[in-house]
Amino acid sequence: MKFTEQLNAVAIDGPAGSGKSTISKLVAEKLGFTYIDTGAMYRALTLKVMEEKIDFSNEEKIINLSKNIDIKLLPARDGINTIKVLLDGKDVSEKIRAADVTRNVKYTAKLKGVRENLVALQRLMAEKLSGVVMEGRDITTVVLPTAKYKIYLDASFEERVKRRLLEFEKKGEILPVEELEKDLEERDNSDFTRDVGPLKKAEGAIVIDTTNLSISDVVTRITDYVKKKL
Ligand code: DC
Repeated sequence: MKFTEQLNAVAIDGPAGSGKSTISKLVAEKLGFTYIDTGAMYRALTLKVMEEKIDFSNEEKIINLSKNIDIKLLPARDGINTIKVLLDGKDVSEKIRAADVTRNVKYTAKLKGVRENLVALQRLMAEKLSGVVMEGRDITTVVLPTAKYKIYLDASFEERVKRRLLEFEKKGEILPVEELEKDLEERDNSDFTRDVGPLKKAEGAIVIDTTNLSISDVVTRITDYVKKKL
């Protein structure tokens, strides 16, 4: 990719529970851009490691697996701009959201070789599109540093726990708050402190604290910002 060139991309980073997926899907829909969830790619790789019963300490094998991994993100229009995640041609959209996959992603996402391979794939995807909304942890800093629009979404820890609680409730699952707090704390810890591609605010990114904002408020702020810079 020519890094001097500004890509017609909205790059969005932020911690777990900051509203990235919901907001990114809606922003993509409003702008007529394609939505890419990079977290789904780390999740799909993690699922594959688990299915192939590879030990998470076997870094070389995991990196090799990430080199040739067949992940496809397809638009699936049910409700809002959602995506279907295909791994080796099979729909794993639900499986990759399971609690054990969520818990284990940190072991694959911390590996330099894995990040290099998935970042290359993500750049290829973005390059092919005339407009993209890509979200993750290192999109504004590593994957698409030349994106025309860079956004860092944030929210307080308490609010992010509350949102997770509601998400599970909607699915009919009741989880102890302490468990959700512990899980989020661990995810923050690995996202902010990993050596490669840690989550941080990129230079030139606008920061939106979503704690006290509605979803539509945040979407409007982002689409207004994009339209102003067009
Ligand atoms: O966005 P998410 O919670 O579905 O992402 C799952 C995990 O993948 C998250 O805990 C961190 C990792 N991830 C990453 O390291 N880099 C990205 N660009 C996106 C996600």
